[in-house]
Amino acid sequence: MTTQPARTTEPKWKEPGELPPASARDAAAVVGDVLLPVLAGGVIVRRPLAMRAVEKTGWDRRGIERVRGLRERYGPDPLRFSARGRTYALVLEPEDAHRVLSGTPETFTPATWEKRGALAQFQPHGVLVSGGQERAARRRFVEEVLDTPQPVHRTAERLTATVRDEAARLLGEAERSGLLTWDAFQDSWWRTVRRLVLGDAARDDRTLTEQLQQLRSAANWSLVGPRRRDLRATFLRRVRSYVDQAAEAERSGTGERSGTGGAAHSLAALVAATPAAPGADPAGQIPHWLFAYDAAGMATMRALALLATHPAQAATARAEAAETALEGPRELPYLRGCALEAVRLWPTTPLILRESTEETVWRDGTLPAGTVFVLHTPYLHRGEPAEPYGDTFTPGLWTGASEWAARANPALLPFSSGPAGCPGENLVLLTVSTLLATLLEAHTYTLASHPGLNPSVPVPATLDHFALRFRVHRDAVRRDAAHRDAAHRDTAHRDEG
Ligand code: HEM
Repeated sequence: MTTQPARTTEPKWKEPGELPPASARDAAAVVGDVLLPVLAGGVIVRRPLAMRAVEKTGWDRRGIERVRGLRERYGPDPLRFSARGRTYALVLEPEDAHRVLSGTPETFTPATWEKRGALAQFQPHGVLVSGGQERAARRRFVEEVLDTPQPVHRTAERLTATVRDEAARLLGEAERSGLLTWDAFQDSWWRTVRRLVLGDAARDDRTLTEQLQQLRSAANWSLVGPRRRDLRATFLRRVRSYVDQAAEAERSGTGERSGTGGAAHSLAALVAATPAAPGADPAGQIPHWLFAYDAAGMATMRALALLATHPAQAATARAEAAETALEGPRELPYLRGCALEAVRLWPTTPLILRESTEETVWRDGTLPAGTVFVLHTPYLHRGEPAEPYGDTFTPGLWTGASEWAARANPALLPFSSGPAGCPGENLVLLTVSTLLATLLEAHTYTLASHPGLNPSVPVPATLDHFALRFRVHRDAVRRDAAHRDAAHRDTAHRDEG
């Protein structure tokens, strides 16, 4: 008598070895409390009304608490759930987040279907949505232009001058009205960004920014929204025209130059001057930079809000800003820490997604190829109950001896990490810290908009940046005194020498 092999009646996900999914109730809770607030707020461009609602209802805090509760009940393995026919896994353990990010792009590709659908609206050839050889060529090119490992970018001198020039105009308006609002800041910020990325000729090209905003709005709908192909073509042509202008200026010898050994002025000029491997599409990388600089603007205003409400940290920040003249480029470690804290507390990429290219093995089982791993950074950045920094504003976390520990902490991912981590981090921190130093140089700020932000209570999980409003006070005496002190120190040093 032959023995029939035992027939399994189990559904595929219960095959021995595969991690079980969350219960239907918990899966719904993940969608409702973790994914929806992020999707509602706008993944690619934030929506003002939705941001206000998310802040008012404390939805983000609920999301953090939800993930913490799931981690306690289900244990450390990624928690599997399905949505719209796709398999997702919510990463609950910082070490697993590290594994996913360091295994990018071979085992965990950043070019997920969801991201490709969204970002193709305005950056079809961006490195983040590329794979294989093209990704490698694009990443190399981007790192080269952005000076990824360097805390002070080769164009820092011109960057500093541009940031200070635009900030002076912004502060002039703020002094007249007594107020600094998000709308005023945003106008000034985009002028700065266009000059830094595309060159001075783009300073007043608001149309380009508006086109990008429209494409980003369409991208918020990922794959379900209509493609804006004509608008995309118009926008990309406009971006390329600035690179062509920079290349032409270089050829004819009329290119603007900074004082730093003849380095070209804008990132577009560097794009034109940097050799690229086939498939890199140099100008095609620029839309991501413009888009991502928006997040740096949010981080700047949020850091200012933290400083306006935390006197002790503000005193250290001001002392750093006053240490030497700000006219030249400087590394400002404490102000960089403030920017990093703004992004840790309110991540501008609340969901980092990676899609597995093969089956992956975890502590208690496997997950199939094609699983989308979801890293919920608001939870990872604050959710570890043992960590003292959780809900507090702690710029010192990122300075001096502490920095090494923060960088090694797998839960802290303000700029992601690993081979697809943000190649613009240093450039962003230079830009934001320079702007913050300029804003603090001779002015103080009272936050007029968010009474819930103060050092005696946990930092709220959402800060609607659109609603930020500061009362601005000119503080000439302190700056003059600081300059006098700096001059005095310089003289003393010279005398000692
Ligand atoms: C506060 C500002 C910024 C933050 C917090 C930030 C954070 C991040 C994060 C979390 C990622 C990973 C995204 C993912 O895997 O889905 C990323 C990727 C990236 N960022 Fe940034 N970013 C910022 C600004 C910038 C700027 C200004 C640039 C360029 C000038 C830039 C260039 C890039 C690029 C090219 C990638 C894709 C890297 C790759 O796929 O290899 N970022 N950034």
